[in-house]
Parts: sequence; C-alpha cells; structure tokens
Amino acid sequence: MFENRNLIQPKKDPFLLFEEWFEEAKLKEQNDPNAMNLSTISKDLKPSSRIVLLKSFDQDGFVFYTNLQSKKGISLLSNSNASLTFHWKSLLKQIRIEGRAHQVTSKEADDYFNSRPMESRIGAWASNQSSELSDRQELIDKISLYKKKFQQNSISRPPHWTGFRVEPNLIEFWKDMPFRLHDRIEYKKTDNKWISRRLYP
Ligand SMILES: Cc1cc2nc3c(=O)[nH]c(=O)nc-3n(C[C@H](O)[C@H](O)[C@H](O)COP(=O)(O)O)c2cc1C
Repeated sequence: MFENRNLIQPKKDPFLLFEEWFEEAKLKEQNDPNAMNLSTISKDLKPSSRIVLLKSFDQDGFVFYTNLQSKKGISLLSNSNASLTFHWKSLLKQIRIEGRAHQVTSKEADDYFNSRPMESRIGAWASNQSSELSDRQELIDKISLYKKKFQQNSISRPPHWTGFRVEPNLIEFWKDMPFRLHDRIEYKKTDNKWISRRLYP
C-alpha cells in the first residue's frame, strides 16, 4: 500500500515530467486535458481565477491566449504574477505552476490566431470579453457585422487579442496516494537551475 514504486519519480527537468503527465492526460482525460486554472491578481490586490486552455509549452513556459481587455488581461498587465493549476481527475494528479506572465511575440500570436477556425477569429473581434452584454442579440449582430467587414479579406488578429506565456519559477507535481498521504514533488528555479524536493502531503 505504501510501496515506493508508486511514488513520483522525479526527473532533473520538470518540463520532462510535465510532458509525461500531460501525454497521459491526453490519453485518459475525456474533455480538455489542456484546461488549466489561471489565477491573477488585480491592481487592488484581489485574486481571481478562471479556466483557460494551454496551447503550447516549452522550457520558456506555458502559453494561453486571451483578450487583453478582459478582467484577466487587465490584471496581468498591471501585475504579471500568475499561477496555473491542472487537475486531471482521471489520473488523480495535480500540477501547480507559479511564475510571471509575459505577452508572446506578435508573430507567435499571429501564427496561432491564423490557425483558428474562421468563426473563432470573428468571435475574437466580436466579443468584448468580460464587459457587460445587455442582450445576446448584440453579440450575434456584431458577429454578422464583422463577417461582412472581412468578407473576402483575411481576418487579421485584433490588437487586443494575444497570448501570455507563464514563465515558471515553481512547479509542483501532486499524486494521489492512499489515506490522503499524497506524494508531492516541488521544483524551484534558483540561479537558473531547477532544484526539487519532496513535500509532506
Ligand atoms: C474549458 C474552458 C476553456 C477556456 N479557455 C479559455 C481560453 O483559452 N482563453 C480565454 O480567454 N478564456 C477561456 N475560457 C473562458 C474563461 O474561463 C473566462 O470565462 C473568460 O476568459 C473571462 O475571464 P475573465 O473575465 O476573468 O478575464 C475557458 C473556459 C473553460 C471552461
């Protein structure tokens, strides 16, 4: 029951362990294995959380896309501290990430925006994310308007729509174990090196 072979096997590089768990989640998690909670801090120091989708990751960090004028966009522009949490129910695993969120380059945002379906690109123009919508019809009308506007032309990326890369300084792997005696491995980046340690549950 308390066999060591069930414990997390730490790797030197936390991104390799992330990749291993994420690949497992992609196979087993029924919906949105790339869904992650994003927490931000507003100018008046209030925390706020919501789900976003991980669109890519590498040694530099974890990328999601959003609207700069949304609640989260405004918060991140004034305070780049952010945290991400994955919880894969089918795996009984959690990953926590803490770091700073920086906007991706225009090219990176353009490349991803242009890979999206036409309807999603129009939606990015039509939605004033997080602002009050008094009538759903208003959104439908804006979608028709932008469809007309772009008709034959390629749909450019709205200036307020881009990606953020959360550059981590902490990554924690959590694995369910019997009797709530869970296993936790925390990685911290110090002097550009990742140091890991095991934590009490
Ligand atoms: C599964 C799932 C995936 C989502 N993915 C994104 C995303 O990638 N980007 C985004 O801006 N909002 C995404 N959302 C919507 C956000 O959770 C949120 O409602 C929206 O971004 C507005 O958040 P804000 O007002 O805090 O800025 C997603 C929601 C769910 C449930």
